[in-house]
Amino acid sequence: VTRVLLLGAGGHAKVLVELLGLLGGYEIDGLLDPREELWGAEVAGIRVLGGDELIAARRQAGVSAGIVALGGVRDNAPRRRLFALLAEQGLAAASAVHPAAIVSPSATLGAGPSVMALAVVGAGARLGDNVLVNTAAIIEHDCTIGSHAHVASGACLAGGVTVGEGAHVGLGARVNEGVTVGAGAVVGSGAVVVGDVEPGSVVVGVPARAVGA
Ligand SMILES: CC(C)(COP(=O)(O)OP(=O)(O)OC[C@H]1O[C@@H](n2cnc3c(N)ncnc32)[C@H](O)[C@@H]1OP(=O)(O)O)[C@@H](O)C(=O)NCCC(=O)NCCS
Repeated sequence: VTRVLLLGAGGHAKVLVELLGLLGGYEIDGLLDPREELWGAEVAGIRVLGGDELIAARRQAGVSAGIVALGGVRDNAPRRRLFALLAEQGLAAASAVHPAAIVSPSATLGAGPSVMALAVVGAGARLGDNVLVNTAAIIEHDCTIGSHAHVASGACLAGGVTVGEGAHVGLGARVNEGVTVGAGAVVGSGAVVVGDVEPGSVVVGVPARAVGA
């Protein structure tokens, strides 16, 4: 049994607590979150122990793995920062792939993947580290997803789509085949992306256009 810490104590942490319990093989040590008002509270029956500064002490106490338990609605920089913190503190990145997700045997997942219920990761897809594939998202064959990216619930990427590092593909968005969503870009919920998205830009609508453009 691997003792694991969750970094983050919001809604996504609740989902991960339940998922890790379902998977077995993990004993959840606790949740860490910088928001002091949460300290001592419980999320899905697991205590919020304090802030990230406790990682070293928890490691001394036998914790060997951690997982980024933040979702994020546009900015994945905090997810990237927490993932780096795990490595700096010598914790292994725990893997959370829901038993009701479908991951092709020819897909490759980086370190610390979170693949939630009913998600599909197709043949030949390649995911970087700390990628979050949220509930019922579809990543078709031959997609490449950069580290720390979040493909939100119900989003659908056609074959051969590239999503850059740290990008966010919003709730229920659709991305046409072969399109590249640049690093750090945000695709708004419900968008239909028919052409490449500039790194760092925000696009919304059908067809998707840059906000403010
Ligand atoms: C795209 C997004 C990041 C923009 O957020 P924001 O910067 O706060 O933008 P605002 O809400 O100020 O909206 C800016 C404009 O874009 C429009 N807009 C925002 N999101 C939109 C969307 N998804 N589709 C269409 N138009 C949208 C707004 O109506 C507004 O238009 P206006 O200037 O004509 O009034 C956000 O709306 C979004 O879609 N986030 C993704 C949510 C998500 O995926 N959650 C994941 C949960 S798992």
